[in-house]
Amino acid sequence: MSTVLITGANRGIGLALAQQYATEGAEVFACCRDPAKADDLKGLAASSAGPVRIIPLDVADEFSIASLKRTLGDQPIDILINNAGISGLSADRIEAEGYITTMRVNALAPMLIAQTLYDNLRHSTQKKLVAITSIMGSTSSAAGGKYAYRASKAALNNGMRGLSRVWARDGILVALLNPGYVQTEMVKGQVAFISADECASGLIARIAELTPATSGVFQDYRGVRIRW
Ligand SMILES: NC(=O)c1ccc[n+]([C@@H]2O[C@H](COP(=O)([O-])OP(=O)(O)OC[C@H]3O[C@@H](n4cnc5c(N)ncnc54)[C@H](OP(=O)(O)O)[C@@H]3O)[C@@H](O)[C@H]2O)c1
Repeated sequence: MSTVLITGANRGIGLALAQQYATEGAEVFACCRDPAKADDLKGLAASSAGPVRIIPLDVADEFSIASLKRTLGDQPIDILINNAGISGLSADRIEAEGYITTMRVNALAPMLIAQTLYDNLRHSTQKKLVAITSIMGSTSSAAGGKYAYRASKAALNNGMRGLSRVWARDGILVALLNPGYVQTEMVKGQVAFISADECASGLIARIAELTPATSGVFQDYRGVRIRW
């Protein structure tokens, strides 16, 4: 049975990933900021084929990340999915606190979580580290606007690409996946192309087929490569 840890698992793409992995029979560690309000996750935990454990995690809080590590102990994690993210508090305006918070949640937190759970990954069978990034982190196709979000995803890409090179020595594979334009709260009011379920199926297929050749490659949920 695979063990999968997902951040931001209470809604959107994270919830769809948790649902599909649990249906496959995986053991899911579903992390979210407020388990008491995570009704969809609680429903999943009560009904799914595989065990679903709901764990509190605010990715912006280092103490919360340390607490996650204490909860997991030496538990091997086959697939660690850094999914939690925010769209950028200040949108198109460049505003210091919003910019820093966006960098903290989208770029720094996945790196800190990866470092904190390094041994859990290294001692697993599959050893797969995943970052849900965005095409908006592509520097060569940057259109402007949403500066904090774009910068945060570009920084995430660069950090994860680096880990893919250094941690290859331990057999750890790193997936950098753009989920597409997905109907979730994040893009509420906009016309998104695919459902969270369709997105999650694609992401799970890409994670399953990850190899040393595709580790550290920036690609989308269909496996189409994206320019940095
Ligand atoms: N939707 C798209 O079209 C799209 C496109 C490209 C990339 N993405 C990326 O896909 C990922 C998932 O986004 P989504 O579309 O599913 O958006 P969403 O519905 O807004 O979900 C975001 C998730 O992140 C969690 N989160 C935010 N800040 C957090 C924190 N400090 N600690 C823990 N969890 C936190 C949220 O938890 P709360 O409920 O507690 O806020 C929620 O579970 C993000 O990384 C996003 O950048 C999405």
